[in-house]
Amino acid sequence: MLIAGNWKMFKAQAETRAFCAAFEPPDGVDVVICPPFTSLAAAVEGGLTVFAQNVHWADDGAFTGEISVAMLQELGVAGSIVGHSERRQYFGETDERTARRAAAALVAGLRVIACVGELEAEREAGQTDAVLRRQISALEPHPELVVAYEPVWAIGTGRTATPEIAQEAHAFIKSLIDVPVLYGGSVKPENAAELLAQPDVDGALVGGASLDPDSFAAICRAAL
Ligand code: PGA
Repeated sequence: MLIAGNWKMFKAQAETRAFCAAFEPPDGVDVVICPPFTSLAAAVEGGLTVFAQNVHWADDGAFTGEISVAMLQELGVAGSIVGHSERRQYFGETDERTARRAAAALVAGLRVIACVGELEAEREAGQTDAVLRRQISALEPHPELVVAYEPVWAIGTGRTATPEIAQEAHAFIKSLIDVPVLYGGSVKPENAAELLAQPDVDGALVGGASLDPDSFAAICRAAL
C-alpha cells in the first residue's frame, strides 16, 4: 500500500518542519509526502520519503518556472506527481506533456504518480471510460509508475467516490495498464479503510487530510 500526501500550495518550510516533528506514520506502509518545491529540502531533512508535485522532462534549458529531475534528485527527492487534475484544469496540462514528464522521471530513476480522472460533466455524460482510456493510453507501464484515479468531482469537495465507484474505475484502469492504482478525492480518516479495502485500490493520494499530521497518520494506519 502506498499512501501519498499531496500538500498542494500549502506549508512553507517552518510548517513543514513542524509537521515532520509531529507526524508518526506506522511501519509497514509506504508513506510519501508531496510538499511545494520550496519545502522539499525541509521535508527530506525531516526524514520523510518525499515526492515533488510536478517535474519537467528536459535536463535543463529555457523553461521558466519548471524544475528538472536532477534538481529534485540533488535534494534527495524520490519521485513526483505528474498530470494532477489541478495542473490540467488551471495550467493547461495535457496528456502528452504528462506522459513526457512521467517518462523522463522514470528513466532517471524517480518514482511517479500519474493522475487521471473524469470531470463531473464527463461522468454524467457517460464518458468516464473514454476519458480514462485517453488519459491512460498516453502512459507506458513501468515498475516505478503508479496511477492515481482522482475523479475531479471528488477532489477537495468532501464528495468521496463510493467504494463501488472507485473499485469499478480502478478495475477498468488496470485492464488498460498493469500498475498499482491509488484512489484520490476527499480521502479522510473516516472513509479510508473502506476505500482501501477494495480489491483494486492499492493506496491513496490524499490532499486536505494530509496537512494535519494526526489525520494523515490515521489514514496511513487504515492501510495496514
Ligand atoms: P483532496 O485532494 O483529498 O483534498 O480531495 C486530493 C488530491 O487532489 O490529490
